[in-house]
Amino acid sequence: MTRIIAVASGKGGVGKTTLSINLASALHEFGRDVILVDGNITTANVSIHLGIPKTPTTIHDVLKGKIKNLKEAVYIHPLGLKVVPASIAVHELKSKHKKRFTDAIIDIVGVTDFIIIDCPAGLGLDAKHAIESADELLVATNPELPAIIDALKVIRFAKELGVKPIGVVVNEYRGDTSHELSPKNIEEFLELPVLAVIPWDENVRKAIALKKPVVFSFPDSLASIEFKKLAARLIGYRYKIRRERKSMIERLKKFFRMG
Ligand SMILES: Nc1ncnc2c1ncn2[C@@H]1O[C@H](COP(=O)(O)OP(=O)(O)OP(=O)(O)O)[C@@H](O)[C@H]1O
Ligand SMILES: [Mg+2]
Repeated sequence: MTRIIAVASGKGGVGKTTLSINLASALHEFGRDVILVDGNITTANVSIHLGIPKTPTTIHDVLKGKIKNLKEAVYIHPLGLKVVPASIAVHELKSKHKKRFTDAIIDIVGVTDFIIIDCPAGLGLDAKHAIESADELLVATNPELPAIIDALKVIRFAKELGVKPIGVVVNEYRGDTSHELSPKNIEEFLELPVLAVIPWDENVRKAIALKKPVVFSFPDSLASIEFKKLAARLIGYRYKIRRERKSMIERLKKFFRMG
């Protein structure tokens, strides 16, 4: 059975694309078949984060009827991840084209374990089509009040569309109580479990510059570990941190700069 998860937020820039890409990458690393779909058809970012320079087909080709089946727009990234990119060019899509998004997603149901949809921010038409194509909603927010209030709106919006909110991912968490809400408070306010708390981590930014998901480029970074724990949680695994264990001699050599 294919699980279709929309990654959405009320407020923009809180880390949806970063979360979608790294969750998809971690699920892929755990042996799950995943198709990551860029549902942000106006301001597409997935191909930029992943360094997909030019793709033969995009979701826009499907929405415009140039290709018939979304399966034909699946690009296999060199890291093995399956991606349906959206075009980064400016497109004037009519609402009849935008409406095809949900039908397009149906084309790939049954051929993969997970479909992860990176949604646009807010409650506009593009977001509506991207969210309603999914069965489950993962809400991204940062730990600040404006984003959390907007997260509540997207949770209600999804419920009205018949999509089940499964949890919240708190991103860019620094643990600064002067202006951040705690995960516990966020959980109480949104009445949804916080499934992951991703710390603010400069490796995330470095990874975007490297065009390689942080779970692959900096696998032991704090953010990567939390992305992997989230993926593990979604598939019912208990993720154990596996770091290379160095022998006492190696550690001593390193300490005295002999190795
Ligand atoms: N955990 C993190 N630590 C540090 N920087 C982060 C983290 N998560 C995301 N960022 C940075 O925040 C910026 C916005 O992230 P991203 O593009 O994923 O947000 P978004 O919600 O998809 O934005 P939009 O609403 O525009 O689609 C990026 O520059 C990214 O590097
Ligand atoms: Mg985005």
